[in-house]
Amino acid sequence: MLVTGSQILVPAREGKYGVGAFNTNDLEITQAIIHTAERLRSPVIVQISEGALKYGGKDLVNVVIDLATRATVPVALHLDHGSSYESALKAISLGFSSVMIDASHHGFEENAHETKRVVEAAHAMGVTVEAEIGRLGGIEEHIEVSEEDAFLTNPEEAQKFVEATGVDYLAIAIGTSHGAYKGKGRPFIDHSRIEKCAQLLSIPLVAHGSSGVPPYIVERLRAAGGVIGDAFGIADEDLQQATQHGIAKVNVDTDLRLAFTVGVREALAKNPKEFDPRKILGPARDLMGELVEHKLRVLGSVGKA
Ligand code: G3H
Ligand code: 13P
Ligand code: NA
Ligand code: ZN
Repeated sequence: MLVTGSQILVPAREGKYGVGAFNTNDLEITQAIIHTAERLRSPVIVQISEGALKYGGKDLVNVVIDLATRATVPVALHLDHGSSYESALKAISLGFSSVMIDASHHGFEENAHETKRVVEAAHAMGVTVEAEIGRLGGIEEHIEVSEEDAFLTNPEEAQKFVEATGVDYLAIAIGTSHGAYKGKGRPFIDHSRIEKCAQLLSIPLVAHGSSGVPPYIVERLRAAGGVIGDAFGIADEDLQQATQHGIAKVNVDTDLRLAFTVGVREALAKNPKEFDPRKILGPARDLMGELVEHKLRVLGSVGKA
């Protein structure tokens, strides 16, 4: 069933488990996410970015809404990184049940002002809202505290932000970053900062940039002819620890992109005579499903639906 973000995330925060929020661009990715969640009796969030909306349009939205509505587990359809009030309202009018307004690159006042406008409009339509405070970006363990503070979320500021906006769940910067290159090794995750945020805030917290970039997938990508540098993701143990301390929504896009590409490359390499799209995209869908399954198990949401 299609539900709001809060309907999935509030129980997750209370129950100390995480919910995977996976980005989709097409039918196969959407099926891998929702069918795996159903098989494992897990709630799940499917998210569409503005770029994905440009690519797939209303057609993509309707595919997700149809699968979500017919799903036997709770599914939320979330706008990822909405850049404006107008963008958030457009998503709501298309049927999204959850939206992110990401004005985190602005100063506190502007971020809070934009977020509050979206919260008021969204709540009037029965839609719940994510905002972000702090800046994601790779950090190194040796970084100066003052420099680190400038990027990572300040817990007191986060508390003021939530009080000022009434936002439903909040993305915090705690050492994760977007993409396949999150560090020169295992990225440093600031667990004490997560705990401080969770002490001051009772709403669900969100971690962006949480792909694991598993080494075996990176190796398979190379073996199938793909080119990728020294890629590192977030360790499973870090995500498990984070979900014990308030992180309820865990954003994953890169892992499914990698799995998709490995699936397609391997299928084409194995049989150069193949030109049936189903024989090319089917293995990619299966491999994405495996990565979704791994994440749901790591986050502890299996059996919660
Ligand atoms: O955080 C960004 C997501 O990975 C979506 O990326 O805007 O290229 O669709 P995209
Ligand atoms: P990854 O790049 O780690 O998959 O993060 C995706 C994300 O945060 C989408 O909002
Ligand atoms: Na988001
Ligand atoms: Zn993100």
